[in-house]
Amino acid sequence: MSQTEDFSARRQQLVQQMGKGAALIPTAPEAIRNRDSHYAYRFDSYFYYLTGFDEPESLLLLIAGDQPKSILFCREKDMEREIWDGFRHGPQGAQSAFGFDAAYPISHLDELVPKLLGNQPNLYFSLGADAAWDQRVTGWLQQLRAQSRNGTAAPANIVDVRQLLDEMRLVKSAAELDVMRHAANITAHAHKRVMLATRPGMMEYEVEAELLHEFYRHGSRAPAYTSIVAGGANACVLHYVSNSARLNDHELLLIDAGCELNGYAADITRTFPVNGKFTAAQKDLYELVLAAQQAAIGQVNPNQHWNAPHEAALEVLVRGFIDFGLCQGSVESVLESGDYRRFYMHRTGHWLGLDVHDAGEYKDSNGDWRKLKPGMVLTVEPGCYVRPADNVPEHFWNIGIRIEDDVAVTTKGCEVITAAAPKTVADIEQLMAKAGIS
Ligand code: GLY
Ligand code: MN
Ligand code: MN
Repeated sequence: MSQTEDFSARRQQLVQQMGKGAALIPTAPEAIRNRDSHYAYRFDSYFYYLTGFDEPESLLLLIAGDQPKSILFCREKDMEREIWDGFRHGPQGAQSAFGFDAAYPISHLDELVPKLLGNQPNLYFSLGADAAWDQRVTGWLQQLRAQSRNGTAAPANIVDVRQLLDEMRLVKSAAELDVMRHAANITAHAHKRVMLATRPGMMEYEVEAELLHEFYRHGSRAPAYTSIVAGGANACVLHYVSNSARLNDHELLLIDAGCELNGYAADITRTFPVNGKFTAAQKDLYELVLAAQQAAIGQVNPNQHWNAPHEAALEVLVRGFIDFGLCQGSVESVLESGDYRRFYMHRTGHWLGLDVHDAGEYKDSNGDWRKLKPGMVLTVEPGCYVRPADNVPEHFWNIGIRIEDDVAVTTKGCEVITAAAPKTVADIEQLMAKAGIS
């Protein structure tokens, strides 16, 4: 299936699920950095999922029922603006290039949308996602209600369109999986490049530059999220993003970074010694986290539920924390008391897709963890973060480790799509020795 067909098939699927009614799906607004400088534009993931269209100031209107229609509103062609800001498809161009049934200038929205919503029984819209759109949609509904004596009714029900789209986004198509494999592979090679380039004395941001270089030269135009490049104690700050410290000999470097490719995120964490050789204490904790990750990945298959990988990782970690004198008691008692949270305070993964923490519920409608299904993609990312404290063995102080891979559920088990990023102690030390680091 071509990409255009994939987008159009998703629109048809959504319209079928809607039954009767109309859906409004706007893209994201542009964000101003200051005065007339903008942040790099990123479309809304729901809008992009249904259109493949990446211009700002656009909205998709879908009509379900006997005569389904997909209608795009977008910016008009404008030679003057195109000289300053670049190419625009314009409604006509977008309609034929992206396969919409109709397309109109975005400036006609207030005139046309109330007409198109008139007498539709249901409105599918993400109420509460964006205050400006909420206000505009409310205005259209009020306009329609005011016309009720003319026989035009406003939609009686407003349904959150994300409920339907989240379920669709959760199971990736073959085309989506291909893009995600590609993003994963670019990212894996960026982590490898960093292992080859890192030396004691470098700044964290110099290492970040190596990641970005590898992302961009392979076609990614942005990281999927702010990269974490955290040397030594900084690795114990879970969302460390200042990336501004010098890397010291004998410390570990934790890097959580992934590229975005055609809208899809990769999300990899690797932790390795700045000088290429793990100390005994670093190696003990690293191999514990790796064992936890392997146990978790072993639980990713269609017979398992969402939480099984987390439970498997936790059991391995807690056993290790007890063996290393970080926690006291039995595995059951430490799990029960939650004492392990001093060293492992996050969950073991999340859905991955257009958003790094992707759309989709983690529990089913009964409140049970949902079953894994082929086509779902998740991260598996256990870690261990040891801050200095009186009751903590000193040789572990300031060690922060996370190992994160991206995993697609298959019919028989799973596929680790980030496998090209080295992660065993032997593979990392050999690679870094080859680069002449240790
Ligand atoms: N990089 C974000 C996360 O790992 O959840
Ligand atoms: Mn993650
Ligand atoms: Mn991550």
